[in-house]
Amino acid sequence: MNKGLFITFEGADGCGKTTQINLLKKYLEEKGKEVLLTREPGGKGLGEKVREILLNYDGVVSDRCESFLFLADRAQNIDVIVKPALAEGKIVLCDRHTDSTVAYQGYGRGLNLDEIHMLNNLATGGKKPDVTLVFDVDIETSMKRVGNEKDRMESAGKEFFNKVRNGYLEIAKSEPDRVKVIDSTRSIKEVHKDVVAIVEKLNI
Ligand code: TYD
Repeated sequence: MNKGLFITFEGADGCGKTTQINLLKKYLEEKGKEVLLTREPGGKGLGEKVREILLNYDGVVSDRCESFLFLADRAQNIDVIVKPALAEGKIVLCDRHTDSTVAYQGYGRGLNLDEIHMLNNLATGGKKPDVTLVFDVDIETSMKRVGNEKDRMESAGKEFFNKVRNGYLEIAKSEPDRVKVIDSTRSIKEVHKDVVAIVEKLNI
């Protein structure tokens, strides 16, 4: 039986990955593939409630508490949504996953990277994406795309943005087979072309 394919979409805020995930979904469905879209934080059910806390809670959230909330949501997403879909042979497209915690809580907030890797592993039960696409943008492009309606994470500032961006580039350097960086300052069409080229190499 087809074992399915797990593709994750990553990048700093305003990188345009949500647009690209929808375009890839459409492309794959037109090829007759069964596609499941999910996101972290979020997914559905309990995940959406965790998302609500993470993005809208306006009291104090400690950095470690924030990490555990993302991880709890991840465990739920993997167990309840991702793994069953992969077992049915579907292509799962996930908007953010483990690398977000490494980039945001690790490189961004400065939490210990080894500990984050260990916790990520615990949350996923060791399941890794087949490929991860990192949509790379500079802060100017990001600010134009995000606009004025910022959530709690998006309000963290320029220095934080650059730490997160650099974090993603470091992740890509350390795992070049899994993680592919795409220059996302370009047009939607050009970026989509690169996405398709990478995904087609997976022999779907
Ligand atoms: P979301 O509105 O989904 O942003 P985007 O459209 O950019 O994906 O908000 C998710 C926010 O949560 C985003 O700022 C990144 C952050 N995040 C972390 O800090 N750590 C994590 O592990 C995850 C999954 C997300």
